[in-house]
Amino acid sequence: TELSLIRNFSIVAHIDHGKSTLADRLIQMTGTVAQRDMKAQLLDSMDIERERGITIKANTVRIEYPAKDGKTYILNLIDTPGHVDFAYEVSRSMRAVEGSLLVVDASQGVEAQTLANVYQALDAGHEIVPVLNKIDLPAADPDRVKQNIEDVIGLDASDAVPISAKTGLGIPEVLEAIVTRLPAPQGDRDAPLKAMLVDSWYDPYLGVVVMLRVMDGVVKKGDRIRMMQTNAVYGIDKLAVLKPQMVDIPELGPGEIGIFTASIKQVRDTKVGDTVTHERKGTEEPLPGFKPSVPVVFCGLFPVDAADFEPLRDAIEKLSLNDASFSTEMETSAALGFGFRCGFLGLLHLEVIRDRLEREYDLDLITTAPSVVFKLYMKDGEVRDLHNPADMPDLTLIDHVEEPRIKATIMVPDEYLGDVLKLCQDRRGIQLDLSYAGQRAMVVYDLPLAEVVFDFYDRLKSVTKGYASFDYTISEYREDHLVKMSILVNDEPVDALAMMVHRDRAESRGRGMVEKLKDLIPRHMFKIPIQAAIGGRVIARETLSAMRKDVTAKCYGGDASRKRKLLDKQKAGKKRMRQFGKVEIPQEAFISALKMD
Ligand code: GTP
Repeated sequence: TELSLIRNFSIVAHIDHGKSTLADRLIQMTGTVAQRDMKAQLLDSMDIERERGITIKANTVRIEYPAKDGKTYILNLIDTPGHVDFAYEVSRSMRAVEGSLLVVDASQGVEAQTLANVYQALDAGHEIVPVLNKIDLPAADPDRVKQNIEDVIGLDASDAVPISAKTGLGIPEVLEAIVTRLPAPQGDRDAPLKAMLVDSWYDPYLGVVVMLRVMDGVVKKGDRIRMMQTNAVYGIDKLAVLKPQMVDIPELGPGEIGIFTASIKQVRDTKVGDTVTHERKGTEEPLPGFKPSVPVVFCGLFPVDAADFEPLRDAIEKLSLNDASFSTEMETSAALGFGFRCGFLGLLHLEVIRDRLEREYDLDLITTAPSVVFKLYMKDGEVRDLHNPADMPDLTLIDHVEEPRIKATIMVPDEYLGDVLKLCQDRRGIQLDLSYAGQRAMVVYDLPLAEVVFDFYDRLKSVTKGYASFDYTISEYREDHLVKMSILVNDEPVDALAMMVHRDRAESRGRGMVEKLKDLIPRHMFKIPIQAAIGGRVIARETLSAMRKDVTAKCYGGDASRKRKLLDKQKAGKKRMRQFGKVEIPQEAFISALKMD
């Protein structure tokens, strides 16, 4: 296709502002899908995404649009993942297109996530067309929201397109704006092949499907191609475009977006952002800025019922087929048995995977407290990554510990600002910026990721009644006074309950944990100390008293010295019990103690 007739774009929007509805409309109005095939929210292919309202895997559709100038254009829409955990995937998909539609709910305004994604689009050099959606709503105030876009983003919104994705109003104007206001791609057909690997997923019938955007050169069915990062060579079996159903195509030239299959075994063998070229006469220059997405949040997943270990292993294997950013490794815990240590791109990624394991595979799981990756600077000069607090080496061997910090942007109505500041402050946050756009405040905080993975989203939601929006990027690793806190039950450390904490907060965390456990562990015939400790030092302690056999009942309330004798005898017995006895901690105690609430 001629470059001047191609437009590649993505849609940037906050959750619920109408991205999927608009995409559906664009597809429908151009007749890309027959009316009867039109399922609502066609682009969100997984049920779970639909339920959660989050688009997880990037997806794309090729639309043919006969414009007012009499020419037929090819519009490629790349659907970008909407959540912060997938920031890297968003930034790659943004680099595969030249423009964006910025969809803002005309009854709401700009939210933190929108902002982050708009900056990604601007970084990628996009032309941006603002679109004001939901103007059918009585509460819609397009002029206020236009002003809001200019104040918050600094983008000229005077030509924003007012639409209702629901009724279809303004959709023709959006299509014209795509053609007239977004730039055509550039590229050289005669240059060696240079294409970006935008996304990949596992299809049960086709195996691994790779989506690519051609920058220069031409790729054809049957070509032998090389992935420049992994240096793997494959033969292309199938080349197609998504309309959104797959339609085979003989070749893809510069500016075009399509998919191929090449007998690739695992999604892991494909790296989002990698450069695809020909095996022979390929380009020497890979696309700039490749970086693999690395898991930043780790936790243990254990079956509640030990018999479910094999089904869990199978389920995890199946899920990782389709999700290269989800890493796993077997783990054994004295308390929880066999399970897996898993790495995720963020907390939401963790929740999505856990949900799928529980619902699609019908597994009952215990999730250990999520932890980030700490960097341990050892006294001997070695630097180690710590993925599991239970593996923390002896304190005397460590010089210092670094943790990942994030730059968080929170937008919130004025009246909740105080609570948000307090929450961030409580989580060791450092305020970087505070500004206003109308009644909404925007705060920027430097926070430890470890404090955010704990229960930050939930706390933020509850203190703002759901009115805050939140977004973050990882900024750097920084030293702090971080220590491992162990939990000991009856003097035995319970590995699954170990966690990394800031020294200044260790006492309160420790106290909270031992108090919770005291209520959760049933009484035994002996006294059970429950302790939180740092190194050898106990920082919080509770004692679960023993069950008492009412031995004195037999004494008819009479002789006091006889009563005491009996009690003394019983104490000795209890001592033995304590010495040899083993505490039974019910499974529910772990589930509740580790609950991320
Ligand atoms: P995610 O898929 O969760 O990211 O959300 P989204 O941005 O794709 O929003 P979606 O298209 O799912 O729309 C969110 C809600 O707003 C749905 O209930 C839509 O029916 C509704 N909606 C979308 N566009 C309009 C509109 O123009 N007017 C009205 N009244 N409602 C709309």
